[in-house]
Amino acid sequence: MNAPRWLIETRNLTKIYGGNGGIHALDGVDLTIAPGELVSVMGPSGSGKSTLLNVIGALDRADGGSVIINGQDLTAITDLDSFRAHTVGFVFQLHNLLPTLTALENVEIPMTGNLGGAERSARARELLGMVGLADRMGHLPGQLSGGQRQRVAVARALANNPPLLLADEPTGSLDTASGQEILQLLRNLNHSHGVTILVVTHDLNVARQTNRVVFMQDGRIIREDIIGTPIEEDLKAWKHSGLGQHILAGDKELAARLGISAKGIKALQDLLNQGED
Ligand SMILES: Nc1ncnc2c1ncn2[C@@H]1O[C@H](COP(=O)(O)OP(=O)(O)OP(=O)(O)O)[C@@H](O)[C@H]1O
Ligand SMILES: [Mg+2]
Repeated sequence: MNAPRWLIETRNLTKIYGGNGGIHALDGVDLTIAPGELVSVMGPSGSGKSTLLNVIGALDRADGGSVIINGQDLTAITDLDSFRAHTVGFVFQLHNLLPTLTALENVEIPMTGNLGGAERSARARELLGMVGLADRMGHLPGQLSGGQRQRVAVARALANNPPLLLADEPTGSLDTASGQEILQLLRNLNHSHGVTILVVTHDLNVARQTNRVVFMQDGRIIREDIIGTPIEEDLKAWKHSGLGQHILAGDKELAARLGISAKGIKALQDLLNQGED
C-alpha cells in the first residue's frame, strides 16, 4: 500500500453536544495534515480545539462528516482501541501519570499486551533516555518536576511508536522555561523521528514554533497561517519596518548616509523581496 498523502484528513466534520439544537462543538471542519507536519491549533476557549483533537484521536465520535487518519476511516473502524494504541499518542495539559507507578512503569503501560516484559522495559528505557530522563526512571511522578512529568507523558505517548502525536495544551500548566523544553522535545521528535504532531495551544510563542497555525472559532477553522523559517520571518519583519521601506523605495539620501552604493541597495532590495508576505 502506498503511504497516504494525508495523515489527517477531515471533511465537513461535525460534533453536536446535546442533540439537535445543541452546541455545535465542530461545525464543518475541513483539515488536512501531511505526514511529517508540526501543526498548532489556536482559538478562544470553547471554540472546539479539544473536541477536534479527541475526534481525530478516536477518543470521541463525530456526528457527521468523515475523518481519515493514516488511511483509516474512523467511522468504519470497529476496533477503536487497537487504532488508538497503534496510531495515536496523546499528551494532555495535565500529564495523567499514575502516581503510584515509577516513570519507567508509567511508560511501560501502553505496551502491555504488545510486548513481553523485557522488551517493554527496554523500550521504556530507550524512550525515557530520548526525553532526557535516563537518570529519573525509578522516580514516582510526585518526585519529578512538572516539566519532567510532562516529558514522561510524552515518552508514554510514543510507547507504541505511533505516527501521530496529539497534544492538548502540553505546556499549559508549565512555567515558560519548562514549556519551552517540552516544545523543543516535540520539535525534535517531529524533525528527527518524523512524528506528525498536532498541538493545541493558547501560547502564540508555542504556535510560532510550529510549521502551520490553524485558528478555530465557534467550531470552525477560520484561518490558517504558514509559519516561515526564522530567517524568512526576520526578512518579512524587516521588509515592513521603516528602514526596509526606505530601502525598497531606493532612498538615495539614506543610501548615501549608510555609504551604500546603488548596487548595494539593489542587493538589499532583492534580499528584502525574498521575505514574502
Ligand atoms: N462533553 C461535553 N458535553 C457537552 N458540551 C461539551 C462537551 N465537551 C465540550 N462541550 C462544548 O463544546 C464546545 C467546544 O469545547 P472544547 O472543549 O472543544 O473547546 P476548547 O476550544 O478546547 O476550549 P478550551 O480552550 O477552554 O480548552 C464548548 O462550547 C463546550 O462547552
Ligand atoms: Mg480544550
